[in-house]
Amino acid sequence: MGDSHITFDHWEGCYADRVANIPSSATRDLFGAASRADMISLSGGMPDIRVMPEEVLKTALDSMLDNKNEALQYGSTDGRVQTKKIIIELMEDIGVNGLAPEDIIITSGSQQALDLMGKVFINPGDTIITEAPTYLGALQAFSVYQPNVRAVPFDDEGMRMDLLEELLKELGNRGAKFLYTIPTFQNPGGVTMTLERRKRLLELCHEYDITILEDDPYSRLRFDGEPVPSLRSMDPNVVYLGTFSKIFAPGLRVAWVIAPRAILQKINLCKQGADLCGSAFNQILAEKYFTLTPWKETLASYVETYKRRRDALLQACEEYLPEEVSYTHPEGGFFIWLTLPDYINTDRLLPIALDRGVTFVPGSGCYPDKTSNSMRLAFCYESEEDLTEGIKRISKVIDERLIMYRALKRDGLIVD
Ligand SMILES: Cc1ncc(COP(=O)(O)O)c(C=O)c1O
Repeated sequence: MGDSHITFDHWEGCYADRVANIPSSATRDLFGAASRADMISLSGGMPDIRVMPEEVLKTALDSMLDNKNEALQYGSTDGRVQTKKIIIELMEDIGVNGLAPEDIIITSGSQQALDLMGKVFINPGDTIITEAPTYLGALQAFSVYQPNVRAVPFDDEGMRMDLLEELLKELGNRGAKFLYTIPTFQNPGGVTMTLERRKRLLELCHEYDITILEDDPYSRLRFDGEPVPSLRSMDPNVVYLGTFSKIFAPGLRVAWVIAPRAILQKINLCKQGADLCGSAFNQILAEKYFTLTPWKETLASYVETYKRRRDALLQACEEYLPEEVSYTHPEGGFFIWLTLPDYINTDRLLPIALDRGVTFVPGSGCYPDKTSNSMRLAFCYESEEDLTEGIKRISKVIDERLIMYRALKRDGLIVD
């Protein structure tokens, strides 16, 4: 919820320091504006669950009564063994073998796992490392624990290992509590870390004794190119986050952490305090979905839909965006990342874009401490026609800025 309507806060001065600097999610704040009928939303990373046939869900729901007593009851904090067995199979599919149920804790979305990782690892002032830009929701979750966030830029091949090495040299052994990465179809960048860089990342983190937190919601949404092995498949000490949100439905809030058992024990303790246990009902629904329905076919139709939309968005970018704008070309996932000339601040562009009926996520929210000339566009939810129209609207807004800048420069009112 945005707080722009709060004019006087009676409780100011009572709040804990930890809530003073939580960044607000532009996407969440935009939910209100984005519901306008003529608005094209390129901001939210919502999976298009309209693609899932109703019969599929009906099959899973119809058999819920068979498990009524467990579904409506409290469950164990770490989650149901039956759900973990499904997760173990899903992980084997992507090359992570030899897992036991004790290697997994089920969480209320990966978002809860991010919060629990912060709770378990971060003291105020501790350093953590992220990609720059990174997932706004992760910055939000970690910020409550008051870390010092050091962000390492990426290029088309993922996080820049040369810059990471410099940073690790500066920080020294165990100089950061963990390094957070979304190596495949990154949010917000859309880029995928190459195998060479993954190997180098593992080497460097091993050398400097830094724990890696791999967040992997999107790797099954690949449209083209070859899969790259997950970091967890290359090193059992990597803490891995997976979720049903993008391969089934986010409304379930069922996700999982795979980690060394010592870490899981701490996560378990913190989770007990947070929610006692996740929803058994939703875990059972996921079990039904992955055992009774043709989920691979459903996933294939999700992927096909997103691929068409990615293609439409990139095509529109090529046709309509001014040549001063560059953007990433993801092979999967939900997002592309636009970089505008550095004199354009996308925070200032947003209200104009909203007025013209299109939303985007300004890049500033995806950096720990930066205004930004970039933006994230999501292609997962809108139709191909609307994606094209959305880019036309954004292009117009950018064009107007460029024209204004050139005019001011010509008249000597701006000096570079
Ligand atoms: C990189 C990343 N991590 C975590 C999440 C949260 O996922 P969940 O729905 O499992 O909480 C998202 C959601 O968009 C995401 O993009």
